[in-house]
Formats: sequence, structure tokens, C-alpha cells
Amino acid sequence: MTPSSAGTSPSLINDLRVLATRIAVDAGELIEAMRDEVDLSGMTKSSSVDVVTAADKASEVFIIEHILAERPDDGILGEEGGDVIGTSGVRWIVDPIDGTTNYVYDIPAYSVSIAAELDGVIVAGAVVEPKSNSVYDAGLNAGARKNGEPLSCTPKAELETALIATGFGYTADRRAGQAAVLTTLLPQVRDIRRFGSAALDLCAVADGRVDAYYEKGLNLWDLAAGWLIAAEAGATVADLRGGDPSPEFVLASGPDLFGLLRDLLDGAKADQVP
Ligand code: IPD
Ligand code: CA
Repeated sequence: MTPSSAGTSPSLINDLRVLATRIAVDAGELIEAMRDEVDLSGMTKSSSVDVVTAADKASEVFIIEHILAERPDDGILGEEGGDVIGTSGVRWIVDPIDGTTNYVYDIPAYSVSIAAELDGVIVAGAVVEPKSNSVYDAGLNAGARKNGEPLSCTPKAELETALIATGFGYTADRRAGQAAVLTTLLPQVRDIRRFGSAALDLCAVADGRVDAYYEKGLNLWDLAAGWLIAAEAGATVADLRGGDPSPEFVLASGPDLFGLLRDLLDGAKADQVP
């Protein structure tokens, strides 16, 4: 599933990128229109701190309907369970609101994330932050952009001055382990940021607003589009063992910082927290 694979038609990749971007922008407008109706009572998922809203569900339905209206043979994997088996070789990976906690509290860092995978390779992706009208997109071997302008990650090569984004899971055990990793990391870097949307964290690496991002325990929908956007902006995006990023672990940074940070995180057993 590596986005470094080649050999796919540039025009198909462009079509998928354009469609992902258009639908993500429209879904962003939908969730903005629904924000004032947010009602938190009783709406949790994997734990009591993992919130879900009517807007998450409405956004996913909207995205799936619009993808299938144009590409009825494609498959879909959606955070809110909207899974569709396809026959075309294209599968869409959808996070209808990444950063739902921010959405509920009206903190601007939430996004819509849509990626397209072709024969198991992520080839196109879009992440939209509706509050700031920021539109990030990428196509495999076609670069990454923010509002149409090319993106590149920072050339940072030292830990001491690196600004690093991360995120935390939803279970108490995982959070305790992630906090322990931070006690090793924080004294050795410039600072840590926890924005609250993994998709936007990866876009922040892509456009150089942070030097790196890591997290244990994402889901594919949190990761897929941002992974391609960061990679197409020149970042190395991988786990701590030299493999593709996965729900187990993702680290994204410019190539010169990557090895230093990987060794530090590996020493802190960051991919072994529960
Ligand atoms: C979460 C966000 C958060 C990350 C969590 C994700 P959600 O997604 O991306 O930044 O730390 O691991 O689960 O629940 O807001 O869609
Ligand atoms: Ca998410």
C-alpha cells in the first residue's frame, strides 16, 4: 500500500484527486452548516472520551453517495461504518470528520479526509479544513498542494530545534503509555503540538508548519490522505521498523530528521505502548 509505487495512469490519478477534493470541500460545507446543532449527549464510540456526532454520520453518507454517483463500481471504507465492496480496483478511504472532539468544542482544527486507493496503493488524497478554507491535495508522483500551491516539508536535520506534532488514543492504557513516551521526547526537542486531527497533522508536516508528526494507533481513515500529501511534499512517512505506516505506528518528517527521531522513539518503545 505504499504511495511510492509507480506505474498508474496519471490521468486516472488526476481524476481521482479532483473528485476527492471536490467532495471533501462540499462535505466540509455540510459539516460547517451542521456545527451549531451539535448535541453531545450520549454520543460516544470506542470509549467515553471518543465522541461522534450526527454530522460525522451525515458527512459520511454524503461522501459515499457522491462518490458512488460518479463511480458506482468503486469500494469504500468509512470511519462510521459505511463500507462498500467494489469491483473496479479503486477503494475510497473516508474520514468524514477527523478531529471530532475539536468540532464539538468549536476548535478550528478539524477536517474531512478522503483518499483513493488503486489496487491497494494510495494514489490520490484530499484533506479539507473547512474553518480556514484550507484545501490540501495530492496525487501519486504528482506532488502535494495547499489551495493549489505546491507544498514541501522542512529540511530540518536536528532534534533540538524540531517542532513535533503527535496525538493520543482513546483508551486510558494507551494514553498512559503515550504520556511516558513524551517524558523521553519532550526534553530533547523544541516543543510538542497536539492539534487533534491526524489528517491535519500530516498536512502540517507537508507544508512545513511542524517538522514531524508521530502517533501510535491510528486507523487507516485518519492516515490515508495525509500520508500521501506528506509523502508527495517530500516527507518520509513510515513506521519505526522501515515498513509502511499503519495503525500500529506512523512517523512523518523530512528525510534528514527521520532517522534521528525514529531512533529516539524506538528507544522510548513508542510503537510498543498498548
Ligand atoms: C482522531 C484524531 C486525533 C488522533 C486520534 C484519532 P477522530 O480521529 O485524528 O488527532 O490523535 O488518534 O482517532 O476520532 O477525531 O476522527
Ligand atoms: Ca479520524
